[in-house]
Amino acid sequence: MLNKCEGFNSVWLLPYETRQFPFAEVLEKTVFKVPSLAKLHVYWSRKKQSKGLPPDLDYPDNLRLRAAMQKLPDGSEFYELYHGFVRDVIAPLFGNRISYSAHPKMRVHLAGTGSVSAWHRDADITRRPDQINVWLPFTDTFAGNTLWLESDYGLRDFHPVNVSYGNALVFDGGALEHGTVENDTDSTRVSLDFRFAIKGSK
Ligand SMILES: [Fe+2]
Repeated sequence: MLNKCEGFNSVWLLPYETRQFPFAEVLEKTVFKVPSLAKLHVYWSRKKQSKGLPPDLDYPDNLRLRAAMQKLPDGSEFYELYHGFVRDVIAPLFGNRISYSAHPKMRVHLAGTGSVSAWHRDADITRRPDQINVWLPFTDTFAGNTLWLESDYGLRDFHPVNVSYGNALVFDGGALEHGTVENDTDSTRVSLDFRFAIKGSK
């Protein structure tokens, strides 16, 4: 069930069962080989040091780690979870008549690194105001590691949205301005996002 996200217009939280869709566990096991995604910055920094590189983390580190997720093959366990999630959790809310991206965008926002996305509205780029955004974090997100959104169309009063693992954020990212800030928390965010459209709505 979609729950209105308090303090925001056209933003909803959608809880789901992580035992049925264990995204974080699969990523920990198959992609990053770490015990906790939220501490990815610690493991990655150590790994850099062990290779004789400076331990500091910056935007290119976010891209390196994101690329590791983006490389997952279509038939992988992670993609099976993704398609199952869309089929069983998202689609039924919209009459099972949606079209969506087969390749979601993967994101990593390491603790201690700067913003990974400037303020924007997706429809300015996609020209698809009919599309709805789903933002799915695999770590608990809050403050500097989460997505920031304006509370209503055109207000530009950006606020962080708290989304714990086991919830999807569904929002009108075509028209609501959103972006990120510096991750000044001690917790890395790993997430994916995609857009979908209700068939026949365009
Ligand atoms: Fe966006």
